[in-house]
Amino acid sequence: MATKGQYDEAARMIDEARRIVAFTGAGISVESGIPTFRGAEGLWSRYDPKILDLGYFFAHPRESWEAIREIFYDYMGANARPNAAHRFLARLEEAGSLIGVITQNIDNLHQEAGSRTVVEFHGTAWTLVCTECRDRTPFTEHDLSELPPRCTRCFGVLKPDFVFFGESIPPEAWRESERLLGEADLLIVVGTTGEVAPASMLPYQTRAPMIEINVEPSRYTADRTDLYLEDKATVAARELAKRLGIEL
Ligand code: APR
Repeated sequence: MATKGQYDEAARMIDEARRIVAFTGAGISVESGIPTFRGAEGLWSRYDPKILDLGYFFAHPRESWEAIREIFYDYMGANARPNAAHRFLARLEEAGSLIGVITQNIDNLHQEAGSRTVVEFHGTAWTLVCTECRDRTPFTEHDLSELPPRCTRCFGVLKPDFVFFGESIPPEAWRESERLLGEADLLIVVGTTGEVAPASMLPYQTRAPMIEINVEPSRYTADRTDLYLEDKATVAARELAKRLGIEL
């Protein structure tokens, strides 16, 4: 657990910053009921990651979709709500000191919390893209009881609009991330192992001091992190909001 002194220091750093960038991973959404990928309770302990391998998807679209529907649409689509940590970042943006969130998450929770500048580095589960004509439509427009879902324009197989293993990062996401990191005067990293490239390299693209929030040390803690707050994302958000006079 982080100390009172560490929270005081983090709040001072946030209060003095004017161009904060946040970089988030699955850990920020755990308390919204969305499991992480790694770790004992992680998705990859229950599902074979091949379901998100592009080659496997094209060869076995129905099998891939059955797992994808269970993981990303049955629960996440229906129930997940933003938590205090998502709201904390949205409030910092409203206050004018945070210039953007770069997220590895595909759950749309930053936007639902009110964040406006959100770079979805791994895409989003909120839209489906046709693998033939590239048409994009909200997943809510499709009946996922029939798998794989088909494009209403060309009958091509639809794929969630997030980055599969073996797929490249959307160029726009790269550009926007580099722009934000180039301007940052403080980096807040929440809930990521820092194990998945190329996203894992982003915190090294800025010299801004870095505050890290995680329940356990990550790849960054020993060499990149300036102030490590070992706590759950919502606990840290509330401690910081209290010190900064922010309503969550
Ligand atoms: N608060 C803060 N951090 C937490 C919490 C919490 N309540 N619970 C777990 N964490 C931390 C874990 O300690 C771990 O460091 O969140 C991190 C989750 O790690 P991963 O599951 O590896 O998620 P992430 O780093 O976002 O994965 C990156 O991998 O599978 C791909 O595309 C997928 O975007 C994902 C990428």
